[in-house]
Amino acid sequence: MNSKKNIQESNGKLGILTPGMGAVSTTFMAGVIAVNKGMGKPIGSISQMGKIRLGKRTDNNNPSVKEFIPLAPMENMVFGGWDIYNDNVYEAALNAGVLEKDLLNSIKDELSEIRPMSAVFDHKFVKNIDGENIKKEKTKMDAAKALMADIKNFKADNNCDRLVMVWCASTEVYTQITDIHLSIDKFEQALEENHPAIAPSMIYAYAAIKSGVPFANGAPNLTVDMPVLIELANRLNVPIAGKDFKTGQTLMKTILGPGLKTRLLGIDGWFSTNILGNRDGEVLDDADSFKTKEVSKLSVLDSVLEPEKYPELYKDMYHKVRINYYPPKGDDKESWDNIDIFGWLGYKMQIKINFLCKDSILAAPVVLDLAIFMDLAQRAGMKGIQEWLSFYFKSPQTKEGLEPLHDIFLQKIKFENTLRYLMGETLINYLGLDYYEED
Ligand SMILES: NC(=O)c1ccc[n+]([C@@H]2O[C@H](COP(=O)([O-])OP(=O)(O)OC[C@H]3O[C@@H](n4cnc5c(N)ncnc54)[C@H](O)[C@@H]3O)[C@@H](O)[C@H]2O)c1
Repeated sequence: MNSKKNIQESNGKLGILTPGMGAVSTTFMAGVIAVNKGMGKPIGSISQMGKIRLGKRTDNNNPSVKEFIPLAPMENMVFGGWDIYNDNVYEAALNAGVLEKDLLNSIKDELSEIRPMSAVFDHKFVKNIDGENIKKEKTKMDAAKALMADIKNFKADNNCDRLVMVWCASTEVYTQITDIHLSIDKFEQALEENHPAIAPSMIYAYAAIKSGVPFANGAPNLTVDMPVLIELANRLNVPIAGKDFKTGQTLMKTILGPGLKTRLLGIDGWFSTNILGNRDGEVLDDADSFKTKEVSKLSVLDSVLEPEKYPELYKDMYHKVRINYYPPKGDDKESWDNIDIFGWLGYKMQIKINFLCKDSILAAPVVLDLAIFMDLAQRAGMKGIQEWLSFYFKSPQTKEGLEPLHDIFLQKIKFENTLRYLMGETLINYLGLDYYEED
């Protein structure tokens, strides 16, 4: 048995800050407020509805996660964030068109009070949108300082005990690690010099980490993956995690892919296409932002299927991902997957999936859980990359040289064992021979 770790109390208010107050962020905030008023259930959230097994199967000991480990309660949350548009959360949620008008109208007062702070934005990184609520600081370092002032003021004005930040803003164009992303000195100098390789998301992450605020990245752009931000997070004892919320088609892939591989069924090709009409779709209509998403979506299958270990089954698999912007769909995304598989003696079969999903409905509980578990990580003294939260991401962030785990069921085991570890409970390895040895 390991010993229980020292976890600080979860008393007081938790402030959740989201850069980006669009479809995902407003569905999350409105959802929490609605649940707190008894108007709905937090379906999809492990922190709210999950159970965790403790001890042996015969013990029948399955407390709810939130009874087992001290988590920030939903009633003690306050919300804030930044956006390039001035719309308050009520207006932005109406625009996003995810939640019904009646529901939004019944919590209009609470939602209207949440107004976006002015954003750090650079059109070069998100090309298809333009807004008016943008900071005018001359250098990227000044922009970072302005964000740090926003964070400090938000905390004081709302009487928060702790804060977390979850990136819910648009997907930025594809970027790569360059020399200025390697060390704190170089990065800070580059901030002063307005270096073009520093994306707004990195400025938010820098400001969060410098302010001691955990940062999770819900979009596929490289942000806290930069060595400089990992180093800073480790040095300042701040948890970071990323990237790209695991929802929709990729969620299906990480459910089905491990299943096919477990039965050693081969795959010739996996063609995935999506049509969506929300603002996310509009941003992804730009080739450079799509490239970022494509890299994130493509990496999943390779890691799940391990073609280098099973060349006869997966080496020649053709994997294609497409996203098409189609406004009439709104947030109701439609995805099709055509999977060409083969079995015994190479005989061919096909699987077709047509998923009519609501992206933000799937993402909202992920934002909630990430905020809650990142806060837990900080209270438990965990710093740097939080790989145990891979469960929530399409491209889980891991230490350099460590292959990420994409299999959702392995990710869940890792996640639960981390909670058991923190609480000093026996880790579960599912061997189970002991049940038979006792006879
Ligand atoms: N919905 C999902 O299931 C899902 C899954 C994985 C990832 N994501 C990612 O989550 C993010 C949010 O998705 P969404 O559907 O809410 O998109 P959205 O377009 O509705 O909202 C994004 C908001 O971010 C704002 N924004 C852009 N750049 C900003 C900046 N620098 N600072 C502050 N605000 C900025 C935009 O004005 C917009 O209001 C996207 O990057 C998306 O790719 C979503």
